[in-house]
Amino acid sequence: MMNPRRLTMTHLTPLQQEIFSTIEKEGPIPFRDFMNLALYHHQYGYYTSGEPPMGPAGDFITSPEISPLFGRLIARQLEEMWDKLERPVPFHIVEFGPGRGILAQAILESISSRLLKESLIYHLVEISPALRRQQEDRLISLPYSIYEAPSQAIAGSYGWSSPEELPTGICGCVLTNEFLDALPVHRLQWTEGRFVELYVTNSSDGDEPFQWQKGPLSDPRLLSWVDRHISGQHIVLDEGQVVDVNMAATDWLSSVDSLLRQGFILTIDYGHQAPELYDNVRMDGTLMCYHQHRADPAPLSKAGEKDMTAHLDYTALQRVGTELGWHNLGLTNQMWFLSGLLRPDDFAMTSEMTVQEFRQRQALKKLLMPGGMGEIFKVLIQSKGIYTDSLLGLHQLRLR
Ligand SMILES: C[S@@+](CC[C@H](N)C(=O)[O-])C[C@H]1O[C@@H](n2cnc3c(N)ncnc32)[C@H](O)[C@@H]1O
Repeated sequence: MMNPRRLTMTHLTPLQQEIFSTIEKEGPIPFRDFMNLALYHHQYGYYTSGEPPMGPAGDFITSPEISPLFGRLIARQLEEMWDKLERPVPFHIVEFGPGRGILAQAILESISSRLLKESLIYHLVEISPALRRQQEDRLISLPYSIYEAPSQAIAGSYGWSSPEELPTGICGCVLTNEFLDALPVHRLQWTEGRFVELYVTNSSDGDEPFQWQKGPLSDPRLLSWVDRHISGQHIVLDEGQVVDVNMAATDWLSSVDSLLRQGFILTIDYGHQAPELYDNVRMDGTLMCYHQHRADPAPLSKAGEKDMTAHLDYTALQRVGTELGWHNLGLTNQMWFLSGLLRPDDFAMTSEMTVQEFRQRQALKKLLMPGGMGEIFKVLIQSKGIYTDSLLGLHQLRLR
């Protein structure tokens, strides 16, 4: 008789087969490792396989994809930061996780100061070779030179760098939009007064190849992370509550300290401050998948075919910044951030509006929408080696 498990194996995608075999050989894997493979497996990962993950033909749409105005307003914020830094040459802009390169394109196209255009070096740090190719195609026609190696980059250029190759001790701005929420998270569950970790194991029923299994914490650093950012903050979890621990985000932020000698860190992403994030209205954590523009709450199915994301702990990011001696200049939401950067002529009323102007207005509304993108996305600006309390993007409101 045919083994039912083997029969199921033939229906698995190559990525699922690889994960299935690994678990068969080595035992259950932490969800963090599963998410890492599902999103970034070198051949079959969601971001690395070559399919367009975002944009109208993909599974979800990000703010820069909605309207070039998003990038234009960020360019305005960058110009002000450059000014506050007393116009250094070079002024480095480092964008981690640039996706299809739409934000980089909008920023590079809309910087208005000729002096800044000639002073900047724009570094794109991208893990996915497929997305990097899309970025190259999109940026090639811009009037900037392209650097060969980050260490030899000259002012007025852009190019690609790995995190290791980036020059250290730079002056400028490190920028991310929906990058940190795409880093793999550990899933922990509060059970009988302690945390256990959620692992992924092979399923014993035929419909889905994988299922959850509880186990001890897979990494000793997790215990100090939750002590520092959850238990130590007097946050009380309910029995069975799940939290998604993004150690990669706090580690990444710490790594920016050696990169940046003086400047700003601009983070735009889904997230909350800790009391809200770990409230028991989020009993199942915040992990969510996106497939064909629809939210999908089943992370273990269709590995590699959908996006996965978890909300950031903005209190933890601010705490890490404070411990590094940085300034937390402000946390706000996208609506207030973009509103602070808008000028009256960005949405001037004209008696006859073209279809394009109407579409632009609609796109702006979507970016600012309270209850939608305007509030879901938070904006954190931190600084190192410089303090200012008058940035345009933080002019309207700061969340306490
Ligand atoms: C959700 S997309 C956001 C894309 C873009 N920032 C936007 O707003 O349209 C996440 C991006 O981060 C990239 N990424 C994820 N992990 C990365 C890493 N460790 N290093 C560099 N890029 C990474 C992905 O390949 C993708 O480009």
